[in-house]
Amino acid sequence: MTVTDTYQRPIISLRISITNRCNVNCFYCHHDGILPQKYEMTPDEIHRIAQVARGIGVQKIRLSGGEPLIRDDIVEIVSKISSIGFKDVSITTNGTYLDKYADDLLEAGLNRVNVSLDTLNPETYQFITKKDYLEKAKQGIIRATESDLYPVKLNMVVMKGINHNEIWDMFNFCKETGAILQLIELLKTDNCPDNGFIDDYHYEMNDLEIELADRADKVKTRRFMQDRKKYFVDGGEIEIVKPMDNTQFCKNCTRIRITPEGKLKPCLLRNDNLVDFIEPMRQGKSDEELKKLFLEAIANREPFYDQCH
Ligand code: 5AD
Repeated sequence: MTVTDTYQRPIISLRISITNRCNVNCFYCHHDGILPQKYEMTPDEIHRIAQVARGIGVQKIRLSGGEPLIRDDIVEIVSKISSIGFKDVSITTNGTYLDKYADDLLEAGLNRVNVSLDTLNPETYQFITKKDYLEKAKQGIIRATESDLYPVKLNMVVMKGINHNEIWDMFNFCKETGAILQLIELLKTDNCPDNGFIDDYHYEMNDLEIELADRADKVKTRRFMQDRKKYFVDGGEIEIVKPMDNTQFCKNCTRIRITPEGKLKPCLLRNDNLVDFIEPMRQGKSDEELKKLFLEAIANREPFYDQCH
């Protein structure tokens, strides 16, 4: 069974933000939730959410944050989720605790990780994150690629004048370690801090895509992954994630989210159509009633960028 929204998009993946705490402080962060106090659901609550999601046909779970590995009970959470039986369970992390947890997470049933790393330059890392954890993050990536977590993807938010000159260095680091590079367009969402970063740093990737298409041996379009392009270049792989003003990104979006405070979030780019899930769950609603909340959130899904925009 798969549920489809009113725009014929099947909902096959759920991104659960399991904490709004983070040990770095990236100036562009969209937080994926509402701040400022600490919000976390218990491992049992997260397990129940995943079970209800499985019941409406969700096949893939991604844990995100904040920084998910900041939670002491992260291995328990992964183990509870993977016991349900999903096609894919993954985590988005900044990598700084990956050295510590990679083996335990794998054993708990985690399939793979995406590591957010925008630079290999210590000063640039400090500028972006306000911390000096670059070596820890690199160590975490290396450890993950040496384990059976596969594939390890490295998420690089490309920013004009900050790291756009580092794309090929990052690509070489990925080739050396066996990671896949994902280049991510800098985004402004409702949750982003209002510090004017888009005007200063937004980097248009069109020319880069032309260069990649030119250098690539093969290009694949990933249809159920928001129509992302994947380039096979010089023995490595590069994916591009470009949500801004991208009707194809929305048209092929199959994802729903839940924020750390337990609200279903139908669209990454909006904050005005959330559906509260955790309160009804804490009040003891049945699985059937909780399923209805998912269906309500899915009914709220509209392409943020549609053909008319
Ligand atoms: N623009 C693009 N990507 C962002 N992320 C967080 N905030 C932004 C933004 N404003 C990315 C992180 C990470 C993922 C969880 O979201 O870099 O890869």
